[in-house]
Amino acid sequence: MKNLIIESENIIALQRLLPEYEGKIDVIPIDPPYNTDISYIEYQDTIDDWFAFMRERLSLAYRLLAEKGVAFIHIDENELINLVRLCADMFGAENIMTLVWKKTNKLFDKNRREKPLESGVKRTHEYVLLCFKDRKNTVLHPIRQPYWNGKGLSEEEKPLETVFDFLGTTSSAKDELYELLGSRDIFSTPKPVKLIKEFIRSASDQNSIVLDFFAGSGTTGHAVMDLNKEDGGQRKFILVTNSENNICRRVTIPRIKAAILKNGYAEEFEYYQIK
Ligand SMILES: C[S@@+](CC[C@H](N)C(=O)[O-])C[C@H]1O[C@@H](n2cnc3c(N)ncnc32)[C@H](O)[C@@H]1O
Repeated sequence: MKNLIIESENIIALQRLLPEYEGKIDVIPIDPPYNTDISYIEYQDTIDDWFAFMRERLSLAYRLLAEKGVAFIHIDENELINLVRLCADMFGAENIMTLVWKKTNKLFDKNRREKPLESGVKRTHEYVLLCFKDRKNTVLHPIRQPYWNGKGLSEEEKPLETVFDFLGTTSSAKDELYELLGSRDIFSTPKPVKLIKEFIRSASDQNSIVLDFFAGSGTTGHAVMDLNKEDGGQRKFILVTNSENNICRRVTIPRIKAAILKNGYAEEFEYYQIK
């Protein structure tokens, strides 16, 4: 199989993937619209019926997931309760866990623009819903967890913990885009490569298929290639993103190409557009 970048409304792409990939996807790291009305976002983040929108897509994703497959779904407070309700219905309450990601960290936030406080409170975390197809029979691998050693960052092998820090921040993810595409503001809500890489490490083996159908700037593809380079793996990625503001051709594809060039990754990919 080839790595794929698919420019499409994701519901259509997921339906097209079913005949070939039903039960074959090992990891689904996704970062859907949070349904928050924030003006700086350059794609549509608010959706009339968010619950129905997500249910339709997650029910297809559920069919694509392998028996021991795992999904990591980013969300913030706005739709957390609905997402938990939806995933508990779909995966079974016993198969989901709520994780907390520290999305700010002074060490990573050299270029961070402070947001206004909310009623005097600084928001420093988001959630990730970890959904197993069959939690009883699935064990996640340890991750490479960075920690502060007093002088700099070191890494140690550790189990994934329910609260995680030092895996990059919203701001450092923008710095990563700057390194590759020369702009921090080419895409407003990227996730850091290290964060997604450690999710994939925990839930994949060297031949896994990783699907992200809200791919945005393509961080998941970058993370798959980085992990493959590190451990000699042959994991494949399937990235799906829509055409809003020409995001796929303006950001996703150039980012993956730039990451390949800069880091000497061995991967290639095929691009399809489904209208
Ligand atoms: C929060 S961003 C994902 C960011 C990504 N994790 C990254 O690191 O760059 C969500 C992306 O999903 C895309 N999107 C939203 N709804 C979609 C849909 N129905 N089909 C395909 N893509 C969609 C948006 O255009 C946006 O680029």
